[in-house]
Amino acid sequence: MNNSATSSPVVRPRRLRETAALRRATAETRLHAADLVLPMFVREGLSEPAPILSMPGVVQHSTDSFRRALAEAAESSIGGVMLFGVPEHRDALGSGATDPQGVLNMATEIAAAEIGDSLVVQTDLCLDEFTDHGHCGVLNDRGQVDNDATLERYCEMALAQAAAGSRILGLSGMMDGQVAATRAVLDEHGYPDVALLAYSAKYASALYGPFREAVDSQLVGNRRSYQLDPGNRREGLREALIDVSEAADIVMVKPALSYLDVLSDVAAASPVPVWAYQVSGEYAMIEAAAANGWIDRDRAILESITSITRAGADTTLTYWAIELAAWIHEGRTA
Ligand code: PBG
Repeated sequence: MNNSATSSPVVRPRRLRETAALRRATAETRLHAADLVLPMFVREGLSEPAPILSMPGVVQHSTDSFRRALAEAAESSIGGVMLFGVPEHRDALGSGATDPQGVLNMATEIAAAEIGDSLVVQTDLCLDEFTDHGHCGVLNDRGQVDNDATLERYCEMALAQAAAGSRILGLSGMMDGQVAATRAVLDEHGYPDVALLAYSAKYASALYGPFREAVDSQLVGNRRSYQLDPGNRREGLREALIDVSEAADIVMVKPALSYLDVLSDVAAASPVPVWAYQVSGEYAMIEAAAANGWIDRDRAILESITSITRAGADTTLTYWAIELAAWIHEGRTA
């Protein structure tokens, strides 16, 4: 009798899914607190932290709340912090970015002094928080972002951030040649040990929306002349390879969840660590849906970070870093 249609299967992948212990022992992707970086916003002139409405649970820090949050971050044993400054005054050149007394450089000094021994202090190297027009660079007389004039400002920023004690400079402006230019100036001025994290494949994404509120950005227009077209996969890899050739120490893909294919490509090709940025809009989408009772918040967060890690991120910048570190410590998984 031919009973092949009902004969029992020999190959049974479900065997390894039967118990929690089996699933844990055979898991392909594991999360580590050291692989998480917490982005933090420090705003000039605040006496109390100010909530960011589109990012429930995230604030613009005052100096005092920043110090407390740094201590909490150090205790959580995450890998590091990425600092963003929100200045009181902005101008066309983003002067606050290179002022040693500017909000970001001051915050960096504080972080380096308070947690620099246990966590990696990193800084956003970009002009958009500091310019009155909100672009990531300086503008020419036709109102376009001038690549090479911007590189000069990035070099000045790199020196200011290195002097303030930043260990990794996060080049997020998407100017051509930004890695080579900042590397050269750092080396010339005695900072060969300061590392460069290139936001190599940074896409022109709607998912940065809440970040604009987080840094009170006044952006006029859009960033499509320097950030990548969301449809371009090959170009994301190309940008990462260019940055590696310019001596980037780490390359990044951003946003994360909508660009897992790019992340996977870059991870397969990169000789240096590959990081991902789970951006403000990714945070806001999950928080908003969860607040409405539409998804299970904790599971959605764990699933998102697991997917980003599975796709190839060695480290992820995420606003949930502290909470995730606690969950990882408890052994929770997606
Ligand atoms: C540029 C920068 C941005 C983000 C990080 N660095 C904004 C942008 O490029 O528009 C976005 C991060 C986020 O959305 O969480 N300084």
